[in-house]
Amino acid sequence: MTGTYTLRELDTDLWVADAPHKMLGLHIGTRMTVVRLANNELWIHSPIRISGTLKGSIDALGLVQYIVAPNAFHHLFLADAAATWPTAQVWGAKGLRKKRKDVRFDGFLCADDESPWADEIDDMYLAGAILDETLFLHRKTRTLISSDLAVNQMKADDWLTRLYVKASGVQGTFGHTLLIRMCFRDKVKSRASVDRLLEWDFDRVILAHGEVLDTGGREAVANSFKWLPASKQ
Ligand SMILES: [Fe+2]
Repeated sequence: MTGTYTLRELDTDLWVADAPHKMLGLHIGTRMTVVRLANNELWIHSPIRISGTLKGSIDALGLVQYIVAPNAFHHLFLADAAATWPTAQVWGAKGLRKKRKDVRFDGFLCADDESPWADEIDDMYLAGAILDETLFLHRKTRTLISSDLAVNQMKADDWLTRLYVKASGVQGTFGHTLLIRMCFRDKVKSRASVDRLLEWDFDRVILAHGEVLDTGGREAVANSFKWLPASKQ
């Protein structure tokens, strides 16, 4: 899919750009997040296709230093982004080491490598899910950044996606699609991760699918995961 996508400022040093995206015939859309770090270096999460216009808008914000593929599924435009900013470090989910042998990685998330952005962004591995996803907290803006932890108010113009959203029970709300739920294989481990996640101080949630949740994020995450078993006290 081609097109020119534009940056939208959400907060100080925080932008997103949305793009159409189709998976298994479903129009689920996708979203990239850009964070500007204190030294004016940029951290890009889940890159979308980078048009010349979008590249110009991003380059005007600072120097792209990190390109992050946060999970097993959000890596489709990683090689393009790495080629667009050849001096940037490329970081990916651990499983991408085998899956994307064509990409030169500088580090793997929540692996042995310490993240160089740790002064401003926290990392946490979402355990028990084949998403292989690392979640991020941009502390300054109290924003949780994730691709597939959940979806929020997914909208669809086509009947198939509408049906899927309805069948998943996520119409107009924050929750989990059928496919995302299927990714949670070890629910006890996932519950432990979600409990740790709820200790993070965030209000906004950026997800790849649906709308950005500007406020009330912590409560929305807590409520949406009630289908996971409660942790043993
Ligand atoms: Fe996704």
